[in-house]
Amino acid sequence: MNKKYHIKITLSINFVLTRIYKNDIYFISSHCGLLININLRRLFMIISVVNQKGGVGKTTTAVNLSKSLTLPFASKKVLLVDLDPQANATLHLTERVEPEKSISAVLMEKALLKDVIINVDGIDLVPSNISLSGVELEIFMKIGREYILKDALKDVKDEYDYIIIDCPPSLGLISLNALAASDRIIVPILLEKFAVDGLSDFLNTFSRVKSKINNGLEIMGYLAVGYNKRLSVSKQIYESVLKPQLGNKMFKTVIRTDTKLKEAQAMCKTVYTYKNNSKCAADYIDLAKEITGGKYGKI
Ligand SMILES: Nc1ncnc2c1ncn2[C@@H]1O[C@H](COP(=O)(O)OP(=O)(O)OP(=O)(O)O)[C@@H](O)[C@H]1O
Ligand SMILES: [Mg+2]
Repeated sequence: MNKKYHIKITLSINFVLTRIYKNDIYFISSHCGLLININLRRLFMIISVVNQKGGVGKTTTAVNLSKSLTLPFASKKVLLVDLDPQANATLHLTERVEPEKSISAVLMEKALLKDVIINVDGIDLVPSNISLSGVELEIFMKIGREYILKDALKDVKDEYDYIIIDCPPSLGLISLNALAASDRIIVPILLEKFAVDGLSDFLNTFSRVKSKINNGLEIMGYLAVGYNKRLSVSKQIYESVLKPQLGNKMFKTVIRTDTKLKEAQAMCKTVYTYKNNSKCAADYIDLAKEITGGKYGKI
């Protein structure tokens, strides 16, 4: 005859809150010294803003999305990495930096990433310099050349909720480093006649990177940039080209054209700091809300 024994053990341990440090809360049991650590960091993501087409709003998006994520409604700690030899994100926010204080030195393994970070307009920035254009050749023969940025970011990733990477308008080794390091990509698409030209090439590269270099890489969304309700072409491209082709992979947020963006750049400020009630400040806040709103899930 089988006997079933039901043993009920009631554990009653009193835990006392002992310490809150950064994102960690520590409780310790007053009876047996057991330590429980609860980590409050809900989400950590590395997002590349990428499109091999030039002038589609990658830098504007990387800079202003980074700022929006730091605002009180989200309060995220953000690191913006300028990975473009044109250094537009850097020059958008600050002055020219020397090569040895830029991402070039990091990729050449002559400086640690944490040592080149500067704080500008509330964002931590890894600046770039034109010297980055020569780095591709320098690192080309290195083993693991696609993973140099990923390795460099390991040192600092615990400090941040989001790392946003502004990519150059090409799909060379520098962009591959961004894609290898990233969890998600945002693809800005300018609402103009040739909006989706070249997208299939980009998607081919994306698929190859996903299968060979970074299995976890996903498209977070396509972002329509340059919407102008008085310009019928932008409306038409959005409604009859982008939405049908890219469907639910489009962000709901659309970035409108806004002259305040160029003024903000000239003042070395994000558009929010320059004019917090401007159209683009509102749009990039909406984008940050969409991203932090849970839809894009945990990594
Ligand atoms: N929503 C917008 N409204 C008005 N101007 C914009 C908008 N977004 C971007 N621009 C302008 O378009 C130009 C190109 O934008 P941006 O530099 O962000 O593109 P990019 O994709 O990073 O270019 P590149 O490929 O050269 O790096 C900039 O002068 C920028 O000020
Ligand atoms: Mg750019």
